[in-house]
Amino acid sequence: MDTEIITIKAQNGYLSEDDIPGIEKAGEIIKRGGIVAFPTETVYGLGGDALSPESSRKIYAAKGRPSDNPLIVHISRLESLYDIAEDVPDEAKKLAQVFWPGPLTMILKKKSIVPDETTGGLDTVAVRFPSDPVARALISASGGFVAAPSANISGRPSPTEAKYVIEDMNGRADAIIDGGGGEIGLESTIVDLTVTPPQILRPGFITNEMIGRVLGTEVETDRAIISPESGKRPRAPGMKYRHYAPKGELVIVEGGDEAVVSGINELVKADKESGFKTGVMACDENAGRYDADIVKKTGPKGDQKEAARRLYSILRSFDDEEVTKIYAESFEAEGFGEAIMNRLLKAAGHKIIKK
Ligand code: TXA
Ligand code: MG
Repeated sequence: MDTEIITIKAQNGYLSEDDIPGIEKAGEIIKRGGIVAFPTETVYGLGGDALSPESSRKIYAAKGRPSDNPLIVHISRLESLYDIAEDVPDEAKKLAQVFWPGPLTMILKKKSIVPDETTGGLDTVAVRFPSDPVARALISASGGFVAAPSANISGRPSPTEAKYVIEDMNGRADAIIDGGGGEIGLESTIVDLTVTPPQILRPGFITNEMIGRVLGTEVETDRAIISPESGKRPRAPGMKYRHYAPKGELVIVEGGDEAVVSGINELVKADKESGFKTGVMACDENAGRYDADIVKKTGPKGDQKEAARRLYSILRSFDDEEVTKIYAESFEAEGFGEAIMNRLLKAAGHKIIKK
């Protein structure tokens, strides 16, 4: 398949007039049943018509993703929510008012217009109204309902830059929109509103506490995503797969700064002697202290937004440089840090060393 690359000039959150023909063309491709990768404020998505079973099947095939793993339906107007969700509860209205458009996905009871192929056979639907202007314009141009998983081949880190979308999806998607995105860097928070109390199925930029404050109720977090040892199945089917993983072996090292720096340097020394190419992911303050072949900076210590924005590109860049042993400093799992640690732990297959 020939993949058309559509370059967007949007700047500072505004589309330029020159962008409109490209977005209209991409919208036509989706309306005709094709699939198009596009930027969002979280990660790039691989979009198809959410109301077409055939389009959803194409998305699964392009990603190499198991079809029991449901897709998120993206909308570009609040009213569209009522076309696809049944019995929209007050909680959903409150959360939409505060967090939409933005990086929050809500699980609601689905209407029959949404095909089983899109929801992986579930009777619920995941709905997201992204804030990225290119995403919103594309969704509108596509008929208003775009099913989109992250635009990576299943199992790899989600792409936050067009070059990584092209790497994974060239030849698999009908078109790729190259146009910014990735400001948040991690996938949207998923909150299930079909259960009481509401439950976070995937942590993200919108935290449990932020949702709880708006709803004025306790919000739970799915235990299975916190401790895989619990043996429970995560309620978001996608959270059970090994995910976000670079090709090299990734290990997280946790502890005080001094112990972590010397601990990682010892491991790196042994790895180098065994012929491995080594990489370290560290905060700006510590980066200069590592002896690894490649050291990637996650930003100033404690800057969660910067670390989240860089995480997937750093993991991908270790692949680019064929690093075979990777060590990551750990992050505080507070606030947005819960999402960072959730993705990092999955990428590491839960390998963590405490120093
Ligand atoms: O930020 C995002 O959400 C990105 C961008 C492209 O919008 N999309 C994304 O999609 O991360 P994906 O397919 O990579 O992850 C969707 C997650 C999966 O873990 C899936 O199992 C879960 O959402 N999910 C979707 N529908 C669900 C449902 N009805 N019930 C429970 N989990 C659901
Ligand atoms: Mg994904």
